[in-house]
Amino acid sequence: MASDKQPLRIGLIGFGCVGQGFYDIVQQQPGLGLAVARIAVKNPDKPRPLPADRFTYHADELLADATLDVLVEVIDDAAEAFRLVSAALRQGRRVVTANKAMLARHLPELVQLEQNFGGALLYEAAVCGSIPVIRTLDAYFSHEPLRAVLGIFNGSSNYVLTRMSEEGSDYGPALAEAQAQGFAETDPALDMGAFDPRSKAVILAAHAYGVFLNPDEVLNLGIEAIGAADIAHAAARGQKIKVVASVQRLPNGRVAALVTPQLLGPESPLFTVEHEFNGVLVEGEYAGPQFLRGRGAGGHPTGSAVLADVLALRRGLRYGYAKRPTAPAVQPADELALDVYLRHADVGVLREVLTWLELPAAALRTDVHGVYATGVVPLLRLVQWRDELRAAGVFVARRGEVRLTEVAEAAGSGHYQVDEARLA
Ligand SMILES: NC(=O)c1ccc[n+]([C@@H]2O[C@H](COP(=O)([O-])OP(=O)(O)OC[C@H]3O[C@@H](n4cnc5c(N)ncnc54)[C@H](OP(=O)(O)O)[C@@H]3O)[C@@H](O)[C@H]2O)c1
Repeated sequence: MASDKQPLRIGLIGFGCVGQGFYDIVQQQPGLGLAVARIAVKNPDKPRPLPADRFTYHADELLADATLDVLVEVIDDAAEAFRLVSAALRQGRRVVTANKAMLARHLPELVQLEQNFGGALLYEAAVCGSIPVIRTLDAYFSHEPLRAVLGIFNGSSNYVLTRMSEEGSDYGPALAEAQAQGFAETDPALDMGAFDPRSKAVILAAHAYGVFLNPDEVLNLGIEAIGAADIAHAAARGQKIKVVASVQRLPNGRVAALVTPQLLGPESPLFTVEHEFNGVLVEGEYAGPQFLRGRGAGGHPTGSAVLADVLALRRGLRYGYAKRPTAPAVQPADELALDVYLRHADVGVLREVLTWLELPAAALRTDVHGVYATGVVPLLRLVQWRDELRAAGVFVARRGEVRLTEVAEAAGSGHYQVDEARLA
């Protein structure tokens, strides 16, 4: 292990957007006492900005190198990332990762390995890039009961929505522009289908509430079916559509999480979070509301969060997961309801969707753009029909917070809403 005089030796696994961003920041700050001692990548034929002898193509060599003080895992393969990170934790190593998809699937197991073998795992970069939300929840709010943590956790879909609002353009051209700008993957499903922000919501739930959620059980609705009509419909009401991920405590004490497009007015601080930016609202019982905004992706912003984790590991930091022993139950979807807006160009499809979601025909409405529908639907129906809704190209947005059904309310749990007006 490095003494105060020796630089901390880092093994860097992955030298893409995040790996290079991190490397660059370390190089620019020699006074930090860090040295990227070894770098592992995958493809030996790729041109690199550093001499070839700086790289190995076998990440396992870094695992076997006991002279490395910290391993930074920033590869784009979730299965391989899990293999590497779990192997490192079994050796009791100190590890930083940015891989949210891997963390959302394996967090309980990784935390167990950390505890069993005395290592440490930090992952600030995995949620909202440069925004220090995990450490804020884990350390600063470790004993603050939280009403809700919600926000815009995906910069790519937010960029598309912003450009559609600004240009009045349709989804396709806005997505193509996001891809050309490097804000969206070639395969946009993870971002636009809201799988990526769902992973982040799952990770935040562990720190905000001590709850380890199964990502498959968290409803995620994306924006693949959004059109200019939806943006215009919102704008005519002084609103915008944003993809909002939320984890919240319900009046019955249970925790609910979901990610969907949402119609928001200017009273919400998320209203002005535009382009590739992310925003996180934390509503504490005693502390009151807090709002963090920053860059959710990109080499330098994400590399900055990785660096903060490396330095924190040198100081001996571990996440506390302080709320885990008192973690509340997760609210089953069958007692939740959501006020939604639905649109499809074909009214026949929309009528069929109403039957899926237990909405009456009277839910149909018209505006200058055609037919849409609104109404309160059981969340379970959205969960059960989410694949069909996606396949049919139906755009669904919520018009307010998730709430307990009337049946649940009658049983004494009451109705709780995040007080966004207080946050304006
Ligand atoms: N990009 C962002 O802004 C951002 C933000 C937050 C979190 N993240 C997360 O950070 C991670 C990295 O993302 P990225 O955007 O930097 O990805 P990227 O640009 O695609 O780079 C991935 C890197 O991983 C290397 N790699 C892949 N498999 C490997 C293996 N088996 N062994 C060694 N190296 C391997 C690749 O090697 P080659 O160079 O040989 O191809 C490449 O250098 C992902 O988990 C991502 O979700 C990214």
